[in-house]
Amino acid sequence: MSTVAAAEKLPFFLRGNYAPVTDEQTVTTLRVEGAIPRALRGRYLRNGPNPRLDPKHAAPPHWFFGDGMLHGLAVEDGRALWYRNRWVRTRQFTERLRMVGPDGQRNLTAGPGNTNVIRHAGRTLALAETSLPWEVTGDLETIGNYDFGGRLTTGMTAHPKVCPVTGELHFFDYNWFAPYVTYHCANAAGELVRSIPIEVPGPTMMHDFAITDRHVLIMDLPVVFDLERAMRGAMPYRWDESHGARVGVMKRGDDSGAMQWFDVKPCYVFHPMNACEIDGRIVVEVARYPELWREGSDRFDLASLHRWEFDLPGGSVAETALDDRPIEFPRIDDRLCGSPYRYGYAVRNLSSTKDDATSLLKYDLRTGASLEHDFGPGRYPGEAVFAPDPSTREEDAGWLMSYVYDAATDRSDFVILDAQSFTAPPVAVVHLPCRIPFGFHGNWMAD
Ligand SMILES: [Fe+2]
Repeated sequence: MSTVAAAEKLPFFLRGNYAPVTDEQTVTTLRVEGAIPRALRGRYLRNGPNPRLDPKHAAPPHWFFGDGMLHGLAVEDGRALWYRNRWVRTRQFTERLRMVGPDGQRNLTAGPGNTNVIRHAGRTLALAETSLPWEVTGDLETIGNYDFGGRLTTGMTAHPKVCPVTGELHFFDYNWFAPYVTYHCANAAGELVRSIPIEVPGPTMMHDFAITDRHVLIMDLPVVFDLERAMRGAMPYRWDESHGARVGVMKRGDDSGAMQWFDVKPCYVFHPMNACEIDGRIVVEVARYPELWREGSDRFDLASLHRWEFDLPGGSVAETALDDRPIEFPRIDDRLCGSPYRYGYAVRNLSSTKDDATSLLKYDLRTGASLEHDFGPGRYPGEAVFAPDPSTREEDAGWLMSYVYDAATDRSDFVILDAQSFTAPPVAVVHLPCRIPFGFHGNWMAD
């Protein structure tokens, strides 16, 4: 069999720029085009699957399960100080410990650690839902599992929310055994102060959630846990419309776990853009899939930007399609998490082949307008993270950061756009001597 034919038999996540890199590097001499804003001082960290492949480490069954690798870029005084990449040393990585034990229960210290990386209360945490976080240093070395001093006894979503008003870290866990969902809150000092089981009809895949300044929103959507699929090592979730689709709204600070549930049209949402409260309504923008992972089909329509409005006193829901272009990885200025906001950013997907997104979008949710920054043929951006200009509170005063893969050179760039001049050429491009595989989420961590 030719090499090309063999490559075509590989699953998509082992081909092209989904394929893992094999080296951990530290690079301190970096070529920069343009000018890195001097107001930026800190590091951009991003996580993603990068399965370690060798005779002892077989390929994972799905893109979502590959060993996590962090990619970091540090800037200071207008200079790019370093790029480095490090695997997250989970017990899946070091010992090949399986996430699910022989009793069917999760091992919270295993898991890939591959989905996001955040900072809260002075700790940097690599996250993958279903397991505990892994604490890492600012230089991306793994310290070990972090369980909030023994208080966290469940997994932790990869999408916790830092309330910009209180500094609290809100998050949840979902499990295939009851309690299927547990909501958690850590205070600004990083102490876990609240863990509340949430009643739902059964186990579903619950990737992300949303908060407002007064409420927590949980999405109970019809991608259900399937034990038979789990037992044969496949993706253990599938579409089941009979589960129904609902969004639960819980008061922040209420220890009862009481939810007000709103039925929505069946769909799946990996990622909300943001939620806020306006005149007694909760308004949420989401990247909404019409369905996901129907049994026997691996094809599905991509997500597009929708708005849900939940009328708390009246109990009604309104759903509006805001755009018909496929998107993913919605982000905002995180200083407005849970508050009224105007601007959102997303990666535009061009088709269901998933890997040909060459544009970022900037949505003006007040006017309905949007702008597109196209990096050109063969140049693929990942999630764009907003780094605010620390000298102002103006919402879009700052920069967007992303790793952009260039297929022609098989290398990646770290690209900085001025968020207020979104369609203009980048203000700075840091050329990396390697490629960064397509991955998931990251954050800007200012010093
Ligand atoms: Fe995600």
